[in-house]
Amino acid sequence: MEAMIIFLVGGVVTLKTTAANLDVRLVGDPIRFSYGRVEVQLKGTWGTLCSRQWDINDAHVTCRQLGFDGAVTARSSSYSFGQGTGIKWKNDLQCIGNESSITECRQDTWSSVSFCNFRTGYPSSAMCTLPVRLIGGLSAKEGLVQVYYNSTWRWVCGEHWNKQDADVVCRWLGYLGSSRVYTNTTHLGGNDTTWMSNVQCTGSEDSLFSCVHVGWRRNHSCANNRKAGVMCSGSEGKNRTGRS
Ligand SMILES: *[C@@H]1O[C@H](CO)[C@@H](O)[C@H](O)[C@H]1NC(C)=O
Ligand SMILES: *[C@@H]1O[C@H](CO)[C@@H](O)[C@H](O)[C@H]1NC(C)=O
Ligand SMILES: *[C@@H]1O[C@H](CO)[C@@H](O)[C@H](O)[C@H]1NC(C)=O
Ligand SMILES: *[C@@H]1O[C@H](CO)[C@@H](O)[C@H](O)[C@H]1NC(C)=O
Ligand SMILES: *[C@@H]1O[C@H](CO)[C@@H](O)[C@H](O)[C@H]1NC(C)=O
Ligand SMILES: *[C@@H]1O[C@H](CO)[C@@H](O)[C@H](O)[C@H]1NC(C)=O
Repeated sequence: MEAMIIFLVGGVVTLKTTAANLDVRLVGDPIRFSYGRVEVQLKGTWGTLCSRQWDINDAHVTCRQLGFDGAVTARSSSYSFGQGTGIKWKNDLQCIGNESSITECRQDTWSSVSFCNFRTGYPSSAMCTLPVRLIGGLSAKEGLVQVYYNSTWRWVCGEHWNKQDADVVCRWLGYLGSSRVYTNTTHLGGNDTTWMSNVQCTGSEDSLFSCVHVGWRRNHSCANNRKAGVMCSGSEGKNRTGRS
């Protein structure tokens, strides 16, 4: 049973909860909910989590609570998944990383704020698995790009595919950037013909999903079936983790 005391301090609602198991969810991945902005449910209301000290350990616990093995990255920049509409729940979570739910993490008192900002804490986000992978290359850092969307790995169409796009993919996978950008018409893997089409990154996005693209196109919409490929530079790829 959840015990709550509500204070009103200058328009900020402060809640004290005891031993209530806090629900979390990720908003950003429409299909598997494996990455995105972290929302918590307090008093029956879902709201964006704003945390000032959000880091990989907090993300690990969030992902574990959701049934994944852990997190690949924790992002706190407001541009990655936005801050959402509606309530923002503020707390400065300080998880060690081995807790099984965020309720067990060291934390302050929950309060509700209008915006997540540098004073209240950035909107917290987490990525529990990497929804991007490279297929068919001679090494792990090379291959044709696939993106996990609607329960299926999709190809990225090679039209307008360039270095900026490739850099975003490589950096997200934990590499420095791309050293080669190419397209390939080989028929690897499944035949699902829904493509991520006309990707146009500026190069500063932190994920391919943040880049402008014209959508998920079916069938013959990608000229000559040219698939986007990359070779990444640098030796460190991030470990894949979680359910895949
Ligand atoms: C987590 O780690 C800390 C320090 O390493 C330890 O004291 C604590 O018992 C651990 N908690 C769990 C739930 O394993
Ligand atoms: C690209 O296509 C060639 C054949 O044209 C093939 O040998 C090669 O393995 C392909 N590369 C990738 C990464 O799929
Ligand atoms: C996801 O796939 C299903 C079945 O293939 C399809 O009916 C649905 O429209 C797809 N949803 C999106 C958002 O693409
Ligand atoms: C894809 O389609 C081609 C020809 O339409 C077929 O030969 C091939 O086996 C299919 N591949 C898979 C993985 O279904
Ligand atoms: C895509 O092609 C398949 C078979 O080639 C056809 O059954 C399907 O209706 C097509 N889908 C669209 C959206 O054109
Ligand atoms: C990947 O994980 C393994 C064990 O979990 C670790 O030994 C290795 O250093 C990690 N590699 C990278 C690139 O993080």
